[in-house]
Order: sequence, then C-alpha cells, then structure tokens
Amino acid sequence: MPLISPSLLSADFAHLAKDLDMINRSEADWLHLDVMDGVFVPNISFGFPVLEAVAKHCQKPLDVHLMIVDPGKFTPQVKALGAHIMNVHYEACPHLHRTIQQIHHAGMQAGVTLNPHTPVHVLEDIIQDIDMVLLMTVNPGFGGQQFIEHSIQKVKKLKELIQRTGSHTLIQVDGGVNADTAPRLVQAGVDVLVAGSYVFGAEQPEERIKQLKQIQKN
Ligand code: DX5
Ligand code: ZN
Repeated sequence: MPLISPSLLSADFAHLAKDLDMINRSEADWLHLDVMDGVFVPNISFGFPVLEAVAKHCQKPLDVHLMIVDPGKFTPQVKALGAHIMNVHYEACPHLHRTIQQIHHAGMQAGVTLNPHTPVHVLEDIIQDIDMVLLMTVNPGFGGQQFIEHSIQKVKKLKELIQRTGSHTLIQVDGGVNADTAPRLVQAGVDVLVAGSYVFGAEQPEERIKQLKQIQKN
C-alpha cells in the first residue's frame, strides 16, 4: 500500500478549512504543500503566512515541496511549521550535501526532488543520506498537467539504485497521478503518491484518496 500525500495546490483556497477538514477525516498519510517563488518555476503559489495557518489546522504530517531558489535558507521556517519532511530540488542546491545536513540537524526528514530532465544517477553518491527522492512526473509549477510516460522507467532506475546501495530511501512521485498512472507507478516501485487535481477535482475527494491507498503491488 502506498502512502498518499494529497497536494493542497488544487484545493479551494477560499475555503481551505473545509478542504483541510476533509484531509483530516480521510485516509491520507501526509499533506503535500507546494511552495513556488516565480523564479525557480514560472508560477507563485503560497508562502509561510498561509502555511502557518494550514499547519495549525492540519492533523496530518506535512510534506513540504519547495520549488524555490536557495531552499536551504528557509530551513528554520519549515521547521517552525512542524513539518515532517522538507523536499528541496537537486537543481536548486549547488551544495546539496550541506543542505541535507541542515534539514537533518533541524530534526526533519530530507527529500530531494528531481525535475523530469535530471537523471537519477546524479544521486548515486548521496542516496544513502536522504530519506526520500521525489521524482517530478510533470514539469513543476502547475497542477493538472499530463503525466510524462518516461517517468515509469525512471522509477525503475531509481529503485535499482536504492537496492544496489542498500538504502532505505522512499520514492515519491508528483504530477499527473490518477487511476491510470498510480497503479503502474506503484508496480514500478513508488512508495508515496502525491495527487492534486485527481483528489481535489473530484466530487468525493475522500473516496479518491481511499482508492489510491488501496492500490496493491503484485
Ligand atoms: C506541481 C506540484 C504538484 C501538483 C500536482 O508543480 O509540485 O504537487 O499539485 O498536481 P496534479 O496532481 O494535479 O498533477
Ligand atoms: Zn509538489
């Protein structure tokens, strides 16, 4: 059974409390929070004042995905939210090892995110130091985009790297997760599914979460 991390990006921002109540009631394991700065990605989502309000209302562990330049700079603010895991982009961190150390010293789990064009082998010498790899299965910046099919091969390659190095790193995917792609991703080795529009765009979002949660690996 995969862990499910619904992405708040597709929620109704005028009624966040309603959507957070749904998440709290649901079988979701985590809540995925997408921070965008308009520089690293061509969009701006929400920042720390909004996240502080969300953190107070949410009973699930927070899975923070920073699509921003120099993400390590914000480690204390993410820590102050009580976040479970802080994801930084490989492409945004010239001193990735140091950034991971900072996240761990702050008492959080460290996730490293790869854009669709970044090969998994760049993580070869750091995979044992990170708790999760987040593979972007769309180009980051927007919800509701189409899944990039090549991602299935990437998940398999990452799984091989994790097994070969005896690491315990989780594999998370983000973008275009739905009833068609999710079972194939889990079969390829994914541990954590992020889903935005598939969950929040539904009439019955709790049912969608439940359905994703029930996917079994053969
Ligand atoms: C996109 C974000 C995603 C987004 C996914 O850059 O990182 O978390 O919410 O949206 P869907 O699931 O609709 O593709
Ligand atoms: Zn995300």
